[in-house]
Amino acid sequence: MNNIKTRLFNTVNEESLKESADIIKGGGIVAFPTETVYGLGADALNPNAIEKIFLAKGRPNDNPLIIHIHNISVLDKYVKEIPSVLTMLSKLYMPGPLTVVLKKKDIIPNNVTAGLDTVAVRIPDNEIALKLIEYSNTPIAAPSANISGRPSPTMYEHVVSDLFGKADAIINGGKTRIGLESTVLDLTTEIPVILRPGGVSYESLKLILTDVETAYSFDTEKPKSPGMKYKHYAPIADMVIVKGKTDDVVRKINEISDEDCAVLCCKETYERYISNNKLSAGSINDPFEIASNIFQCLRLFDQMKIKKIFCEYFEMKDIGEAVMNRLLKAASQNIIKV
Ligand code: TXA
Ligand code: MG
Repeated sequence: MNNIKTRLFNTVNEESLKESADIIKGGGIVAFPTETVYGLGADALNPNAIEKIFLAKGRPNDNPLIIHIHNISVLDKYVKEIPSVLTMLSKLYMPGPLTVVLKKKDIIPNNVTAGLDTVAVRIPDNEIALKLIEYSNTPIAAPSANISGRPSPTMYEHVVSDLFGKADAIINGGKTRIGLESTVLDLTTEIPVILRPGGVSYESLKLILTDVETAYSFDTEKPKSPGMKYKHYAPIADMVIVKGKTDDVVRKINEISDEDCAVLCCKETYERYISNNKLSAGSINDPFEIASNIFQCLRLFDQMKIKKIFCEYFEMKDIGEAVMNRLLKAASQNIIKV
């Protein structure tokens, strides 16, 4: 699967979208932007095409894929039942960064769902993605368009760096709006379960579902969402999260870092770090800004060949929960409390 000819669609227009859709229809794999992160897509009804995704990413085949549809009206072709709560959820978040897990119909091949009897479905909130799905005339199965284990791609350049020579085509949609992945919500259980925190917050879901459980704490031995058990989002450097009062965090990081280390912090504390290798992910008062930049920051540190990253613990509500979930994974839960 290495060194195949990758078409780069830098200009996105009807013609390039139709060519991309033809590649999907012909069983190829195409990386495309969504509002969360870039996805690596294939015809979800073609098992051979699905196999190519796993090979290109080096993804373990027990980790199921999300299928992307362009309109809620086609959902009943792929799932056995549509729970009543989905009416409301879909009005608010489909299109949007919400993935729902439902009982699958047989039309969905087993390698999409890694043998599970459920399938994860979402409608991306991005014009390019929606048109690509519509023109392909099939649901598109797509994991994030990174090599397995690497930070998810939020920019075209990240996808080119990971998948040039491995994907049939890459579509340039600029920087993704949200910057981290969708919330995965299991609707097959009596009480809905959030399997992965993401673009739609726990607080928002609680308003609609009243009763909702979470299953993504790091100490769960057997996570329900198979993907959550893998080391993910990881930069090449070792990463340590430093948690405590701001003054103590700044003092501690300044004390322990040397010239091979880097600091990932917020705009408000940036000037206080003596390190020459530091990046601000955004304002501590704007969790959405931080969410949209963290994966890019991790990739920039890799480019700088940083060996160790000290990262502030951004204690934040809403999307901040998903931010800390990804950062703690990148750090393999390595936290210093000060
Ligand atoms: O925002 C997103 O969700 C992006 C864009 C491209 O749509 N996609 C994405 O896909 O993050 P991926 O493959 O990197 O993550 C999918 C997650 C994994 O944790 C996987 O285990 C879980 O969804 N998943 C997929 N199907 C599932 C199922 N049937 N039951 C439980 N978890 C499932
Ligand atoms: Mg992923």
